[in-house]
Amino acid sequence: MLKPTGLIRGHYECRSFAETIPILADILALEVVGEKYGEKVLKHPNTDWRLVLHEGRPDAPIKPMRNHYGVRVTTNEEVDRACDYLEMKKDEFRIKIIKPRGNHNAYSVHFFEPGGNFWEIESYEKAVETGMGKTTNPHWTNPLPKEKFSGKGYVPQAFTHGTLENDDLEASERFYREVLGLEVVKLWPSSCYVKHPSTPWYVVCIQALSANRQRLTRYQRFTLAVDSPDAVRDAHRAFQARGRDWKITELDDLKETSDEVSFLFSDLNSNWWEIASAVQ
Ligand SMILES: [Fe+2]
Repeated sequence: MLKPTGLIRGHYECRSFAETIPILADILALEVVGEKYGEKVLKHPNTDWRLVLHEGRPDAPIKPMRNHYGVRVTTNEEVDRACDYLEMKKDEFRIKIIKPRGNHNAYSVHFFEPGGNFWEIESYEKAVETGMGKTTNPHWTNPLPKEKFSGKGYVPQAFTHGTLENDDLEASERFYREVLGLEVVKLWPSSCYVKHPSTPWYVVCIQALSANRQRLTRYQRFTLAVDSPDAVRDAHRAFQARGRDWKITELDDLKETSDEVSFLFSDLNSNWWEIASAVQ
C-alpha cells in the first residue's frame, strides 16, 4: 500500500489564463503563488492545497458539473450574497450561474466559468450538528483578514474540495483505501469523501450516472505526495506489477526533473492521479 504524505494538488484545465485567473481571484480568493513548466500554481490563503492550472487549447473540453471544485463560506446567507455578486459580475466574466440549492446539509451556488469548469460556493452552516463533522468541521483556523476579500457580502474561507465520478464506487473505495492509502469517509450510499488523514480537503467521489460519462484528461487530476524519489520509483514498480489486479487503465512512464520524480496513472474509473516526490 502507498504511504502518501499528502494530497497536495488538484489540477485544472482552462482555455486561457488571462480569462480564468481573474475570475478565480475575484470570486474565490485564489492567488497565484507560482509558475512552473507553463503551469500556474494557485492557492487559497487559508488552504495549503494547490490548484495547478493548465492552459489548454481554445477548445479545451468543458468538464461536467459533477467534476467541479469548491470553496466554503461560513453561513447560508453568504451563499445568497455570493449569488448576488455572481449576478453582478456575470456579463463581465461571462459566467453562468446555477441558482442556490440544498444538498446533504450543504447549501450552495454553482457557477460555470468560460475556461470550461464548474465551481461551487457552499456553506455547511447546519452540517456539523447533524453528524458530518468528519468532513465539515471548519477547514480554517483563522478567518480570512478583511483586506484579503472585502465588500462582496461573502468570504470564501477555504478551498475545500474537488469531485470525481466513479463507475464502481465500492471497488473505488477499496482502491483508494487499500492501494492509495487514503482515508475514505462514508456518509451516503452513492458517494464517499476521499482525503489524506492529516488535512481537511477532500475529493467527493460520486457514483456515475452513466457508463458513457465524459472521461477527464490528464490535466484534470489529483497529486499525492510520497516522502522520497525512491518511494515514487517503488510505487511505479508496484503499479507495473499489480496494475492489472487494480484495474489501472493507463500507466505513464516515470518522469524525473530537477525538483521531483513523478508518474501519472488512470485508475479503475479512468480518472487520473499523480504520485510525486514533491514537498509542499
Ligand atoms: Fe461540491
